[in-house]
Amino acid sequence: MRTREWCDRMVDCMNRVMLHTAISCWHPLLGLVLVAVFVGSALGCPARCDCSAQSRSVICHRKRLPSIPDGIPIETRVLDLSKNKLQAINPDDFSAYPQLEELDLSGNTVAYVEPGAFSGLYNMHTLSLKSNRIKLIPLGVFTGLSNLTTLDISDNKIVILLDYMFQDLHNLKSLEVGDNDLVYISHRAFSGLLSLEELSLERCNLTVVPTEALSHLHSLVSLHMKHLSISTLHPYSFKKLFRLRHLEIENWPSLDVFPANTLHGLNLTTLSVTHTNLSVFPYQALRHQSHLTHLNLSFNRIRHIEEGMLQDLVRLRELRLVGAQLSTIEPYAFQGLRGLRVLNVSNNRLDTVEKGVFQSPEALEVLLINDNPLVCDCRLMWLLQKRHSISFGEAQPECSTPEGIRGRPFKEFKEALLSYYVTCTKPKIRENKTQIVSVDEGQTARLHCSAEGTPRPLVSWLTPGRRHLTNRSHGRLTVHNNGTLEIKMSEVQDGGVYLCVASNTAGNDTLLVSLAVKNLGSLYANRTQSYTDHGNDTANGTNPPNLTMGMDLKTILVSTAMGCFTFLGVVLFCFLLLFVWSRGKGKHKNNIDIEYVPRSKSNGASAEAIDQGAGPRRFNMKMI
Ligand SMILES: *[C@@H]1O[C@H](CO)[C@@H](O)[C@H](O)[C@H]1NC(C)=O
Ligand SMILES: *[C@@H]1O[C@H](CO)[C@@H](O)[C@H](O)[C@H]1NC(C)=O
Ligand SMILES: *[C@@H]1O[C@H](CO)[C@@H](O)[C@H](O)[C@H]1NC(C)=O
Ligand SMILES: *[C@@H]1O[C@H](CO)[C@@H](O)[C@H](O)[C@H]1NC(C)=O
Ligand SMILES: *[C@@H]1O[C@H](CO)[C@@H](O)[C@H](O)[C@H]1NC(C)=O
Ligand SMILES: *[C@@H]1O[C@H](CO)[C@@H](O)[C@H](O)[C@H]1NC(C)=O
Ligand SMILES: *[C@@H]1O[C@H](CO)[C@@H](O)[C@H](O)[C@H]1NC(C)=O
Ligand SMILES: *[C@@H]1O[C@H](CO)[C@@H](O)[C@H](O)[C@H]1NC(C)=O
Ligand SMILES: *[C@@H]1O[C@H](CO)[C@@H](O)[C@H](O)[C@H]1NC(C)=O
Ligand SMILES: *[C@@H]1O[C@H](CO)[C@@H](O)[C@H](O)[C@H]1NC(C)=O
Ligand SMILES: *[C@@H]1O[C@H](CO)[C@@H](O)[C@H](O)[C@H]1NC(C)=O
Ligand SMILES: *[C@@H]1O[C@H](CO)[C@@H](O)[C@H](O)[C@H]1NC(C)=O
Repeated sequence: MRTREWCDRMVDCMNRVMLHTAISCWHPLLGLVLVAVFVGSALGCPARCDCSAQSRSVICHRKRLPSIPDGIPIETRVLDLSKNKLQAINPDDFSAYPQLEELDLSGNTVAYVEPGAFSGLYNMHTLSLKSNRIKLIPLGVFTGLSNLTTLDISDNKIVILLDYMFQDLHNLKSLEVGDNDLVYISHRAFSGLLSLEELSLERCNLTVVPTEALSHLHSLVSLHMKHLSISTLHPYSFKKLFRLRHLEIENWPSLDVFPANTLHGLNLTTLSVTHTNLSVFPYQALRHQSHLTHLNLSFNRIRHIEEGMLQDLVRLRELRLVGAQLSTIEPYAFQGLRGLRVLNVSNNRLDTVEKGVFQSPEALEVLLINDNPLVCDCRLMWLLQKRHSISFGEAQPECSTPEGIRGRPFKEFKEALLSYYVTCTKPKIRENKTQIVSVDEGQTARLHCSAEGTPRPLVSWLTPGRRHLTNRSHGRLTVHNNGTLEIKMSEVQDGGVYLCVASNTAGNDTLLVSLAVKNLGSLYANRTQSYTDHGNDTANGTNPPNLTMGMDLKTILVSTAMGCFTFLGVVLFCFLLLFVWSRGKGKHKNNIDIEYVPRSKSNGASAEAIDQGAGPRRFNMKMI
């Protein structure tokens, strides 16, 4: 046996000598190097493999080997058997090489690994079983690998991770289990992984976060969960991960909501939630993450960043929200973020980024806003003035309006151009003077207020009850984008003077509109009101006039009283009828249920009063 091995080696050596001589003829310098290597590996090397005595490595990469080759030196530390045709790993396959530190079995066709396959390899620190055909890893496969620090079992066909399967890997630091058919991770699968710092769970068929299993990883620092079809995150999903600092959630296309307590208990420094279906910035979930420095929310469907919602993120330095559908960053959005240095909101729908969104604009070093429909008016002036001291990245931002500077990169602006084009104009309301609108009760009233100006003015309304209505729906009252205030099912008490305010950064304009709602039922006093024409153009913000409700106390009392009388009358009448009826039938019921629908009691309230619960109520009456 010994002799045969020796012969094999001799033949192998002869082959090498001849090969090397040939090469050295062609290139003397290369020859020298190779001869040196050859001399070093004189101790032996399996046929077809490359060995290095210095590093004690045996490299048999892509050699079509059907089994583990003979002739591997006993003292081998690094063994690379990747991309061969190995089909199974049996116990004691490697027990002859107790000094193995690195073993690469990736890219074979291994379908089964026997328990004990790696027993005795106490020095091994890196093991790769990546890209094989393993369906199940039985208990005991990793027994004895107590010094292993890196394990890769990704890209196999593993369906389940069993309890205690990694039990002995006390020193494991990095584990790759991605690209498997993983459907379930048993609750104690990660038990024993006391040192695990990095875990990748990618491209699996998991439908929930394996919270219980993860909770054993007390040393985990980085968790990467990519390409998963998890659609729901539960509160407290990442419990007991006390050391977790980096969490990456990427490509969960069906995730719509990021619940408030999802990150509860974590103390993250970087968080990345990208390529999901989230449409709302996860403010609540981010609360208390005061050590967060990097946040990446790119490629979601987030539309707005609201005012003052990120105040807890006091240490945030870099915020990325690329390729979303972001159309507004409200003023004061980054309030509290004193150290924000990098903001990347490129490829969105922003028309501007105002100076007022930042807590400290001077701290900003990099601002990527390319690929946005930027309107270059006075709101962007601050940025254009800083254009030589701030980095816009490689893709320079451009204006989409005004016409004269469209498509021109920021850096090319001359000062003269700035003062000519980058301007704002005060809002001007097209309707000339106080409008008087009159509708019948129950009809829809429309109060128009269309304004022009650059940037496009925001129209808001002040009701007679001094309620402030902005651009959206408020029950029956809706402020449309074109400024029109629509009041559906108008009630008499909607009448009064409304104030329209159109404002933009350059100033504001106001308009008074008087609404009269005609009461149709002539039961009550004539309560349509007329208002004196205030007639003054309050273009530069004089105080709104006295907005009194045209409803006096007497009217309220009278109408309430009338309502009560009618109501009491009806009840008594019903009561009487029932009484007579029950007598007539000769049946003496002691209890009678009376169901009635109370009348609206909101007569005296102001315009914003919304009818309170108008459902039927039950009375229970005792009859003697
Ligand atoms: C881990 O490896 C070191 C040498 O790198 C060795 O001294 C130690 O005994 C090994 N641990 C175990 C449990 O075998
Ligand atoms: C996992 O998902 C892939 C793709 O959706 C599918 O082809 C495969 O059958 C699934 N595996 C299991 C075990 O469900
Ligand atoms: C994302 O959300 C939208 C609407 O909320 C829905 O229509 C769409 O189907 C969702 N996409 C996925 C992949 O779930
Ligand atoms: C959170 O982590 C930071 C370091 O990233 C550390 O300084 C801080 O003490 C931790 N806070 C808690 C409550 O663990
Ligand atoms: C943010 O997420 C996107 C999408 O996953 C990725 O392309 C980008 O590299 C990430 N940026 C950083 C700084 O992590
Ligand atoms: C406002 O006044 C101008 C002339 O001063 C007139 O042309 C325009 O039609 C008026 N608009 C309205 C809405 O009354
Ligand atoms: C504004 O839009 C609303 C709803 O689209 C419409 O009813 C109203 O007439 C419009 N106002 C004007 C002034 O065009
Ligand atoms: C109701 O008020 C309107 C406007 O104030 C007035 O023109 C009308 O005459 C009043 N009708 C009655 C019946 O008082
Ligand atoms: C506005 O009202 C003031 C008094 O309140 C009056 O002196 C002034 O002439 C008015 N201006 C216009 C344009 O009606
Ligand atoms: C309102 O505007 C007029 C000119 O349009 C100006 O003379 C006046 O000072 C302004 N008032 C205020 C309070 O800004
Ligand atoms: C309108 O502008 C004036 C100053 O021009 C300002 O004092 C006032 O608060 C503004 N009103 C609104 C509602 O923005
Ligand atoms: C507004 O009302 C107060 C008290 O209700 C009154 O003193 C003041 O004169 C009124 N102002 C106008 C402009 O009507």
